Amino acid sequence: MRLTVIGTGYVGLVHAACMADLGHTVLGVDRDADRIESLARGRAPFFEPGLRELLHRTLQSGRLQFTTSLAAAARFARTHFVCVGTPQRPGSNAADLRFVDAALDELAPALRDLGGWCLVVGKSTVPVGTAARLERRLHKVAPQAEIAWNPEFLREGFAVRDTLRPERLVAGVSSPRADATLREMYAPLLRAGTPFICTDPATAELVKLAANSFLATKISFINAMAELCDAMGADVMPLVEAVGRDPRIGSRCLQPGLGFGGSCLPKDIRGLVAHAEEQGLGESVAFLREVDEINTRQRRRTIALARQLAGGSFRRRHVAVLGAAFKPGIDDVRDSPALAVAAGIHHLGGRVRVHDPEAVDNARACFPDLEFALDVPKACEGADVVLHLTGWPEYRAIDPAGLSTVVRRQAILDARHTLDAARWRSAGWAFRAFGRPRLGW
Ligand SMILES: NC(=O)c1ccc[n+]([C@@H]2O[C@H](COP(=O)([O-])OP(=O)(O)OC[C@H]3O[C@@H](n4cnc5c(N)ncnc54)[C@H](O)[C@@H]3O)[C@@H](O)[C@H]2O)c1
Repeated sequence: MRLTVIGTGYVGLVHAACMADLGHTVLGVDRDADRIESLARGRAPFFEPGLRELLHRTLQSGRLQFTTSLAAAARFARTHFVCVGTPQRPGSNAADLRFVDAALDELAPALRDLGGWCLVVGKSTVPVGTAARLERRLHKVAPQAEIAWNPEFLREGFAVRDTLRPERLVAGVSSPRADATLREMYAPLLRAGTPFICTDPATAELVKLAANSFLATKISFINAMAELCDAMGADVMPLVEAVGRDPRIGSRCLQPGLGFGGSCLPKDIRGLVAHAEEQGLGESVAFLREVDEINTRQRRRTIALARQLAGGSFRRRHVAVLGAAFKPGIDDVRDSPALAVAAGIHHLGGRVRVHDPEAVDNARACFPDLEFALDVPKACEGADVVLHLTGWPEYRAIDPAGLSTVVRRQAILDARHTLDAARWRSAGWAFRAFGRPRLGW
């Protein structure tokens, strides 16, 4: 089948390349001309495991092309996936839908001129009711066009795998024709056994927000338990194991740490709360405000514990930060908890040097005042405290004895609970982790 993908960010680019890999003929569209030019040369604008190879393969096959023109997109295919960003609106908690609206407004006249049925499939995460609103808007210009919503659940760091082997596909459709089009589009995945949940567009929109709200709640729940452990002298790690072994609960996303960040969870729960409040339903989702507050408190608690480890003040103190990406395996620093902590310490007068295996360029672009190092020993040179803030596997392999020779003081805060506390302690380090008060010294 032929299709276009409008917006070639994390979701759109991976979707476009994966759909081409499944045998479809795909045109990727973006208004960012530099991005389109590099994509056409096989250069992905971000790091995502397996994406570079997939991009090369599908470009070479001729089944993947790129353009900046939405008019060309309208001529190319009858099915158009919309994958543009829906960030938090500046000065508000609500979702900013101006990119979705602009994409549709630009596409609509071209669809009208072409005539004939066509399907616009939203993949962006949007407030409930957006598909219905967009369809009304689209129908004023191109009455023959139909809208469906097919939310995306990929996880950055596993985006290619999640797209080619999703846990489920959700299609919010208004007609059998739209249902049949999406089933045909995803036929190879359906043949492989992927569940296909067909519903109305409003439910599909809410499924995505509900899933992200649940994940965020689970993360904040265990971080709240870690706070209790700290106050009550209990250990959160065996607690996680014992609680998570209940199959009704499960241990995935039940890892205590610095909390969630990135371009989705924080803005999606805020957007849901803002929209519910607008509808007079704030009480139903009031708990999500607390989920958000627990999450941001983790960042403040990390700064406070780091200050304590640095001797009560950051003045004339050197703080090494291990990790800048919002999670391991990617170079995305959008709403990164690690960088929020690094910037907070810098603001309080600390000298901060950040290392990350992949995300230094993106981090430097957002926080030019921080110092960056290309390897762990350089980041830790003369450090009064080392903060482990993104759980990259390579940080687990650090030799604590070797690192002792470069720091000024052997003090480390493992905010991701992935380091081997016994190993660090036996090498003479003061080792702290939230929810593990007995690791204190
Ligand atoms: N990143 C994720 O892990 C993830 C996962 C699931 C869902 N989502 C949702 O998917 C959507 C996209 O997220 P993302 O992270 O891929 O965003 P992104 O910011 O990485 O990419 C968006 C792209 O759309 C392009 N764009 C904006 N307006 C356009 C227009 N009018 N015409 C053509 N291109 C346009 C931008 O130039 C950019 O390249 C969001 O709603 C997000 O919440 C993201």
